[in-house]
Amino acid sequence: MTNDANSSENMEPVVMESIRPIAEMKPDRRNFLISAAGVLGAGAVGLFADILIDNMNPGKAVEALGAPIDVDVSKLEPGQLIMVEWKKKPVWVLMREEWMLKTLVEPSLVKRLKDPKSLQNQQPTKAYANGYYRALRPDIFIAVALCTHMQCIPDYRPAPHTVTPWWPGGFHCACHGSMYDFSARVLEGSPAPLNIPIPPYYWLTKSKVRIGETDKAGTFKNWTPDIW
Ligand code: FES
Repeated sequence: MTNDANSSENMEPVVMESIRPIAEMKPDRRNFLISAAGVLGAGAVGLFADILIDNMNPGKAVEALGAPIDVDVSKLEPGQLIMVEWKKKPVWVLMREEWMLKTLVEPSLVKRLKDPKSLQNQQPTKAYANGYYRALRPDIFIAVALCTHMQCIPDYRPAPHTVTPWWPGGFHCACHGSMYDFSARVLEGSPAPLNIPIPPYYWLTKSKVRIGETDKAGTFKNWTPDIW
């Protein structure tokens, strides 16, 4: 398999879900997306697998099991989350706004984190992990969308104070109540033990990111976090 940026072996992603900032939506659309996100969160992997089969032909699906995917972020709006598929796992791509980044360094949040510096190894390299942002580019956050407790898909809950009175915004797993910030770092009081894994990726261009390896040589292509 080649790792050329134009290779046809690199799959275009299936966009599973696209959620814009809830505050900007009309009420009917807002309600629909909240309920859709709830279904995804509580439905866990079984529902996810069904959607995958509907969206891919069998040959492509098999090929996609290990292939990197290229994601174009040029149409993402601030605060918008999309969910794509890589190695049969859901992956978030979130365009973080400035206020979201600010929450990540707030002492009141940091003191609630189980592993604020992501020292427990759930990402391929320290380049992704040890900062507050857990990303090569702070504005674009990429993570595998599976709770580290029992692998449900957490809901995107950006609005502050909506999960707890002190909720800064982030991801909430409806299955058993695990809470994560906008860098998918797990908060104290969650049954989930670890921060959510960051997949290997690198930027091909300013607007296109390749998920599944860290460079053209295919480094970390076979990496999986300990919890899988
Ligand atoms: S699977 Fe997420 S809290 Fe249990």
